[in-house]
Amino acid sequence: MMRINQERLQSEIDELAAFSDAEPPAVTRIVFTATDLKARAWMKTRCEEAGLAVRQDAIGNTFARWTGSEPSAPAVGTGSHIDAIPNAGKYDGVVGVLGGLEAIRALRATGFRPRHSIELLIFTSEEPTRFGIGCLGSRLLSGILTAEAARKLTDKDGATVEEVRRSVGLDGELEQVKILPDYYKAFVELHIEQGPMLEREQVPLGIVERIAAPASLRVTVEGAGGHAGGVLMPDRRDALCAAAELVLALEHAAQTSGAVDTVATVGICDVFPSAVNSIPAKVTLSVDIRDTNVLRRDAVILALEAACRATSAKRRVEVQCQLLNADAPAESAPAVVAALRQACEIHGFVSIPMTSRAYHDSLFISRIAPMSMLFIPCLHGFSHRPDEYASPTDISRGALVLAEALAKLSE
Ligand code: GLV
Ligand code: MN
Ligand code: MN
Repeated sequence: MMRINQERLQSEIDELAAFSDAEPPAVTRIVFTATDLKARAWMKTRCEEAGLAVRQDAIGNTFARWTGSEPSAPAVGTGSHIDAIPNAGKYDGVVGVLGGLEAIRALRATGFRPRHSIELLIFTSEEPTRFGIGCLGSRLLSGILTAEAARKLTDKDGATVEEVRRSVGLDGELEQVKILPDYYKAFVELHIEQGPMLEREQVPLGIVERIAAPASLRVTVEGAGGHAGGVLMPDRRDALCAAAELVLALEHAAQTSGAVDTVATVGICDVFPSAVNSIPAKVTLSVDIRDTNVLRRDAVILALEAACRATSAKRRVEVQCQLLNADAPAESAPAVVAALRQACEIHGFVSIPMTSRAYHDSLFISRIAPMSMLFIPCLHGFSHRPDEYASPTDISRGALVLAEALAKLSE
């Protein structure tokens, strides 16, 4: 009989949350900061204590392997991320990492011996906070991002990925990160839903059948600064007023796409020089656009680009619209979905098919391996905020189903 140690799992989630650069209950853990490095070391010890063989690649993706009876056969992977955006909660990503570890420990305790190795994977920088692009580790693993392009990405201080990773002791070349297409037989990521559907439907588990297509852009508006008292209104070329028009144009494009699946967000508005008595001279907007339908998503990108041209002409400001990424959506693999469904049935748990509206490393793993994801409810659908919450019962139920699915897939 498989048993998840709910107390241990919960106390590890709490322990990991203590590695944070924010006041509790908020968690901030940005990739390759001192705090992130401490959390990584703590995680590595947990994996080694569980009897797993741990290795790291050149970008810091961490693999913890339970070798199967056929060591050279493709592995069955599970895992997620432990980096957290500023002012986040303690469950995003962490549930899939510590829940995955607990699933492996539970399986080992039953005396089960997998034929295919089972591997816990902790991806580097799922969050785009530091380098502007999400899923850095899984993009490199899957070959969606080339080593050359990754090396050049910079953080806000101008430090490149290459400099930062070397400075934290990650050797080897980024070219070596890409894994072969037959590395994984299957991949399953456990995650909180980050939306309200499971709670609303009163269903404890969601099996992900597709992941929505995300895109991000950086829009830079350059106008003219000056004295907030001295420059008369007709003479102004205020970059923030122009940017405000763009934000509303984006909102309008998403609202009128014809589908509720279209979402668009401006999460960062950086104003220069940011002084109360100074007209904004330059504004940078970070834009995030997503949809389950890639054509509809791209129509919103086109609408934003058109708004940039119109605002530039109307307000005599210079507008640059740079596309950072526009990823394709992913479909889950029927065999992995079936394994998850069967795992739910073994325990009599009800599940529903779901679309992931958040992106995940599994989006990129889907390009090289059959994948699916298992969602558990989170309170009111809250995520990316300090009051993000998933109950210990829901988390351990997820870990139990994950363990059953890993057993099935690794036979
Ligand atoms: C991942 O955190 C996302 O933004 O979907
Ligand atoms: Mn997140
Ligand atoms: Mn996540």
